[in-house]
Amino acid sequence: MYILAIESSCDDTSAAVLRDGILLSNVTASQAVHEAYGGVVPELASRAHQQNIVPVVDQAIKRAGITKADLNAVAFTRGPGLMGSLLVGVSFAKGFARSLGIPMIDVNHLQGHVLAHFIRESEDDHDQPDFPFLCLLVSGGNSQIVKVNSYKDMEILGQTIDDAAGEAIDKCSKVMGLGYPGGPIIDKLARQGNPDAYQFSKPNIPGYDYSFSGLKTSFLYSLRDWLKDDPDFIEHHKEDLAASLEKTIVDILMKKLRQAVKDTGIKQVAVAGGVSANNGLRNAYRDHAKRYGWKIFIPKFSYTTDNAAMIGITGYFKYLDGDFATIDLPAYARMENK
Ligand code: KG4
Repeated sequence: MYILAIESSCDDTSAAVLRDGILLSNVTASQAVHEAYGGVVPELASRAHQQNIVPVVDQAIKRAGITKADLNAVAFTRGPGLMGSLLVGVSFAKGFARSLGIPMIDVNHLQGHVLAHFIRESEDDHDQPDFPFLCLLVSGGNSQIVKVNSYKDMEILGQTIDDAAGEAIDKCSKVMGLGYPGGPIIDKLARQGNPDAYQFSKPNIPGYDYSFSGLKTSFLYSLRDWLKDDPDFIEHHKEDLAASLEKTIVDILMKKLRQAVKDTGIKQVAVAGGVSANNGLRNAYRDHAKRYGWKIFIPKFSYTTDNAAMIGITGYFKYLDGDFATIDLPAYARMENK
C-alpha cells in the first residue's frame, strides 16, 4: 500500500512516499528567498510552493521507484500554518488524488511532528516510543508539552502563552544582526561560548505553560545597555551571548518538562519540531536520561524541521483507521478555526 504525502504549511515544500508505513522517499525544497527579509514572507512562500510542488512530488515518486499509478492514497497537511502556503498543498493533493481516483487523508501538522518518532526507514527500524509518552514539541510556531496516549489521542498539558521557543531564538538572533533563521546560527555559536556568561530573565508562570516574551525583552534591554559602553559588544561576545541565550531557553523548557514527568510518572520522553535540532537541547535530554532514568527519543535531523515523511506516517495510521478526507475540506491556519 503506497501513500504519497505532501507538506506545505510554511516555507518548505516537501513530498514523501511510504510503502506499508515504511519510508521510501522524502524530498524537500526549502525557500532561500526569505533570508533577505529576516523571516518568512507569506506571499513569497505561496509562490515558491507553486513553483516547487510539481517537481518535488515528481522526485519523491521517482526516488521511491514507483509510478503515480501505484499510489493508494494522498495525505496532506491541512493546518495549522500559513493559509496561502497550505492552499497550494491542499489544492494540489485534492486534484492529484481525484485524477487518480484514490482517497485523501488530511493531517494535522502538529500531530505529524509528534508522530515523526514513528517514521521507519526500514523493516528493522524498531526504536519507537510506547504509549503513553510525553513529547516536547518546540518549533517556530509552537512550544507544547503533549501527553501522547495513542496515535490519535494527544493531550496538550501545557503550551506557550506568547512566543514560541524558536520564535524567541529567531528574534534574539535578529537583534544581534545574525541571519535568518537564527536557530542554527545560535546553535553553532553557542558551541564555542560560555553558557554562564550572562543571565536573562526566566518566566514564573504556573502549571506546564511556557512564556518567552519576557526573556526576549530582557535580552533586548541587556544588549542595549551593553552596547552603550561598547558599540562592538555583540561582535566581541556573540559566542557567549548565544550560549547564554540557548542555556536560558533550554532551562525554561526542561524545568516544566521535568515537572510533567514527575507528575505523570511517564518516563518516556520525546522531543519534536524545528528546535529539537538544537544541540544544547539534545544534550540536556541526554543528561536527563542519565540523571533521571528517562528513556528519550530524539528525531533524526531531517525529521526535526517540516517534512512530508511525518505527514506520511500520520496519514498511514489514519488510512488504517479508514479516516479519509472529503473533497470539500478546507485548510485551516489556526487550531481554533479547525
Ligand atoms: O518546525 P519548524 O521547521 O517550523 C516552524 O515552526 O516554522 O521550526 C523552525 C524553528 C525556527 O525557529 C528555527 O530557528 C528553529 O526551528 N531551529 C533551531 C535549530 N534549527 C532550527 N533552533 C535552535 N537550534 C537549532 N539547531
